[in-house]
Parts: sequence; C-alpha cells; structure tokens
Amino acid sequence: MSSQLFTSKHNTLARLTLLLFVAGAAGFLGFMDMLHRSPYVRYTKVRREQPIPFSHKHHTSLGIDCRYCHTSVETSSFANIPPTQTCMNCHNVMWNDSPMLEKVRESYANDESIEWTRVHDLPDFVYFNHSIHVANGIGCSTCHGRVDQMPLMWREKPLFMKWCLECHRDPSQFVRPDDKIFDMAFDPKSQSQEERDALVESYGIDTSNQRLTNCSICHR
Ligand code: HEC
Ligand code: HEC
Ligand code: HEC
Ligand code: HEC
Ligand code: HEC
Repeated sequence: MSSQLFTSKHNTLARLTLLLFVAGAAGFLGFMDMLHRSPYVRYTKVRREQPIPFSHKHHTSLGIDCRYCHTSVETSSFANIPPTQTCMNCHNVMWNDSPMLEKVRESYANDESIEWTRVHDLPDFVYFNHSIHVANGIGCSTCHGRVDQMPLMWREKPLFMKWCLECHRDPSQFVRPDDKIFDMAFDPKSQSQEERDALVESYGIDTSNQRLTNCSICHR
C-alpha cells in the first residue's frame, strides 16, 4: 500500500524539491558570504556616526599632530583614543559654550569617558601592532587614507587578510622615509623602485623565506 502512496512522479517531485532547497541554501550561504565580504557591510568609506561630531579634517587643519592625541602609536601595539582631558586642554577656553561640545563638558564634569564608536576592529584572533609598522616606514595614510580630509572618521580599507598579505609579500611598494610617516599627502609611489628598495634595506625589513606571510606572524 505505502509504495502506492509515492508514485514515481511524486518521487521525482520530492527529489526536485530537495535539490532546489539544497541549491537554494548553498546560494543563500554564498550570498551571505559575499555580503560579509562586501565593503558595505564593513562600512568601508562610510562615515560613522559618533557621540560628538569630532572632525579630523578640522583639527588637523589647525596643525595639530596625530601624536598629540594618539600618543602611543609609535610606542605600543595600540594607538590610543585621547581621553576627554586632551580635548579640554583647548576646549575649556576655546569654543567653551558650543552646544556641539556639550557632551565633552559633561564627560569631563562626570569623569566618564566618551563612548566613541570604533571604526576599525580586527577579529580577536588577529595580532596587529602599530609601533612595528610605524618604525618600519609605513605611514598612517597607507592604511587609514586621507584622515586630514575626513569630517567624520571612516574606514578606508576593509581590512581583509589579503590586504595585509599584499603588503607583507612586498613592502617595497609602500615604504616611505621616516620623516613622512605622519604626512597624509605623501605618496610612496612617487619614489622610484630603487629608492624604495633602499628604504626596505635601511629599515632592515626582513622578507626572507616569506617570513612575513607566515600564518603565525598574525595568528599567534
Ligand atoms: C585632537 C585630537 C586628535 C587628533 C589631532 C587626531 N585624532 Fe584621530 N581620533 C581622535 C578621536 C577623538 C577619535 C575617535 C573618534 C573618531 O573616530 O572620530 C579618533 C579616531 C581615529 C581613528 C579611528 C579609530 C578607530 O575607531 O578605529 C584613526 C585611524 C585616527 N584617529 C587617525 C588619526 C591620524 C592619522 C591623525 C593625524 C593626521 C589623527 N588621528 C589626529 C582624536 C584625534
Ligand atoms: C589644540 C586645540 C584643540 C584640541 C586638543 C581639540 N580641539 Fe576641538 N576645536 C579646536 C578649535 C580651535 C576649534 C574651532 C575651529 C574653528 O571652527 O575654526 C575646534 C572645534 C571643535 C568642534 C566644533 C565646535 C563647533 O561648535 O563648531 C568640536 C565638536 C570639537 N572641536 C571637538 C573636540 C574633541 C572631541 C576633542 C578631543 C578629542 C577636541 N576637539 C580637541 C581646538 C582643539
Ligand atoms: C599597516 C597598517 C596601519 C598603519 C600604518 C597605521 N594603522 Fe592605525 N590601525 C590599523 C589597523 C589594522 C587597526 C585596527 C586594529 C585592531 O582592530 O586591533 C588600526 C587602528 C587604529 C586606531 C584605533 C585604536 C587601535 O589601535 O585599534 C587608531 C587611533 C589608529 N589606528 C591610528 C593610526 C595612526 C595615527 C597611524 C600613523 C602613525 C596609524 N594608525 C598607522 C592599521 C594601520
Ligand atoms: C602597507 C604595508 C603593510 C600592511 C598593509 C600591513 N603590514 Fe604588517 N608589517 C609591514 C612591515 C613593513 C612590517 C615590518 C617587517 C619587519 O620588521 O621585518 C610588518 C610587520 C608586522 C608584524 C610583526 C612581524 C614580526 O616581525 O613579528 C605583524 C604582526 C603585522 N605586520 C601584522 C599585520 C596585519 C595583521 C596587517 C593587516 C591588518 C598588516 N600587518 C598590514 C607592512 C605592512
Ligand atoms: C599579515 C597578517 C596575516 C597573515 C600572515 C595571515 N593572516 Fe589570516 N587573517 C588575517 C586577518 C587580518 C584576518 C581577518 C580578516 C577579516 O576580518 O576578514 C585573517 C583571517 C583568517 C581566517 C578567518 C577566515 C577569513 O578569511 O576571514 C583564517 C582561517 C586565516 N586567517 C588563516 C590564515 C592562514 C592559514 C595563514 C597562513 C597561510 C594566515 N591566515 C596568515 C591576517 C593574516
């Protein structure tokens, strides 16, 4: 009896439905993967809302150096975000009644840090270190873009693994002299390959045996 219930026609239909379902699921996963890797989901080149509309463009045009606020970028793996005290060095006297700075004054008065939205955030299983890059001739703008032109901060690069590897395979494409690290307008490609090779040599960047693309360099 039961075999009569499922005629061969039904069987074909069932198989077809199953096939479509599987293909659909694979397609859906593929789509989700694409989405995960797409620049949009990574907020690449998307201005991020911040609790206070802090403008890098505005502040760097005043001639304030990156290191005035990001004091640990040359000495530590982490580039710090400045405490409210740093803002108040100027804003207790300058523009001290601006409504845009209300939250800065509040934070200072209540001794509570400002909750900035993180713009760059690598997964925990990746090790990154600022001081090593800065000491080896890689400028801020190579990884962060023209920060001096950003009214609100955005992420210039999606920070995929292949992006790290592209440079680790051949850092000579991106090195610059020591005195240009904080120069946002400097373009490493304006130097000849010979000049860049000489820089790689003088920094002592070691690319032997594909050392810099070894998994354990970044996944420790
Ligand atoms: C007056 C202080 C100040 C100066 C000067 C300054 N910054 Fe910042 N920076 C901040 C603050 C505050 C934030 C957090 C809010 C934001 O993302 O805009 C920040 C965030 C950043 C971020 C993103 C951090 C994240 O969340 O991933 C980068 C990258 C950055 N700054 C680079 C630079 C560079 C490069 C320079 C020099 C050209 C510079 N900054 C100069 C205060 C400063
Ligand atoms: C070295 C001095 C200095 C420091 C440090 C500084 N600022 Fe400013 N900031 C200024 C000046 C000057 C202006 C006004 C510039 C103009 O409009 O011409 C300004 C403007 C602003 C404005 C716009 C205010 C308005 O009403 O238009 C905001 C918001 C702001 N700053 C936030 C911050 C925050 C947040 C910090 C700390 C991370 C900070 N600033 C650190 C000097 C400074
Ligand atoms: C080789 C690429 C590279 C260079 C060069 C670089 N950064 Fe970054 N920066 C990153 C990455 C990647 C992150 C995210 C780190 C994380 O999530 O752990 C980051 C994060 C930051 C942050 C957020 C705090 C942190 O450490 O996570 C600030 C601020 C920052 N960078 C400022 C700077 C400044 C200023 C310079 C120039 C002196 C600079 N960076 C040079 C790649 C770079
Ligand atoms: C534009 C070039 C460039 C980019 C992009 C870059 N790096 Fe590097 N990285 C270097 C250079 C140059 C060195 C120094 C190599 C040396 O000292 O021999 C280095 C060194 C390192 C080191 C230390 C290696 C050691 O000797 O222990 C780590 C960890 C690292 N990078 C992680 C990363 C990660 C993670 C990313 C991506 C988020 C990244 N880097 C992106 C150029 C780059
Ligand atoms: C120069 C630094 C660097 C090196 C070397 C490196 N990785 Fe990664 N890896 C990263 C970063 C950064 C991410 C995070 C990428 C992201 O968020 O999309 C990552 C992510 C991954 C992931 C998670 C899946 C993905 O693609 O996001 C795997 C798996 C992985 N790496 C394996 C490896 C293996 C295996 C090697 C050695 C052949 C290696 N990595 C070498 C930086 C590196």
